Amino acid sequence: DMGTALAWAPVPSPVLTASGCSAFGQELEPFVDLGALGAVVTKSVQLQPRSGRPTPRMAETPSGMLNSIGLQGPGIDGLLADDLPWLARRGARAFVSIAGTRVEHFAQLASRLRGVPGVLGLEVNISCPNVESRGEVFACDPVAAADVVAAVREAADPAQPVYAKLSPDVTDIVAIARSVSEAGADGLSMINTLLGLVIDPDTMRPVLGGVTGGLSGPAIRPVALRCVWQVHQALPEVPVLGMGGIRSGLDALQFVLAGASAVSVGTAVFNDPSAPARVHAELAEALAQRGFARLADAVGYAHR
Ligand code: DHB
Repeated sequence: DMGTALAWAPVPSPVLTASGCSAFGQELEPFVDLGALGAVVTKSVQLQPRSGRPTPRMAETPSGMLNSIGLQGPGIDGLLADDLPWLARRGARAFVSIAGTRVEHFAQLASRLRGVPGVLGLEVNISCPNVESRGEVFACDPVAAADVVAAVREAADPAQPVYAKLSPDVTDIVAIARSVSEAGADGLSMINTLLGLVIDPDTMRPVLGGVTGGLSGPAIRPVALRCVWQVHQALPEVPVLGMGGIRSGLDALQFVLAGASAVSVGTAVFNDPSAPARVHAELAEALAQRGFARLADAVGYAHR
């Protein structure tokens, strides 16, 4: 039984896409049965359409990539008119990632998503690294993070769980996790990208137009796993959606053993667009081989 405590409705898989890496699912469709995933976690949506940051916006690194997309996207009107109906027609659930620069923006987005068919839950992106100043990263401050989460929980459909997406770029992620949990977060998505930089030795300038960007992929997996471990140790009742460099079922298994109830596969899709479905199959086999009859029995097992 691969069912998971991710949301209040049962989902067929504990494997989801990760925000930003598969847009709204369209490009994965030839490779993955979207309806068989736990959910498609959308690219973060804002109130208005956005064109994003200056190019180039992606740089490869030895074990992952750096991006500074700058929250390019259709805005909530386009998402509601086109992308969410497209997913619903395919029987796919959406976990909608929402982003903004003010608490009110997040609350307005949550209220626009109330009752929308196929919206399984909300992932609150309080940890986008591509903002003008670190002072705007809500997830780096326990009070700012809690303000956003409380406003979203208040505005959102009671049937839609609210997950807070946390940044690893903090001294004490448990303090942030505790604060957003007390503010009403129903779960935690861990982790967003780490802030990074790549300089081209030929031009001797930063590769990305936006200078800094978010580092993702296998390079960050041990950091992500440590975050999930620490938060599950402190707050064992809080559901965790684990992510950070997951490429295989054994990678996913590590997150489950550390305390994740479900996992997201992000950067891996750039090498293998079928990765979310493959990780699901590999995780099922890995759990069975280890004698776990149910995923729930393996969640946090490494702590016991
Ligand atoms: C962007 C947002 C993120 O949360 C992230 O980790 C990387 C990039 C963005 O759209 O700029």
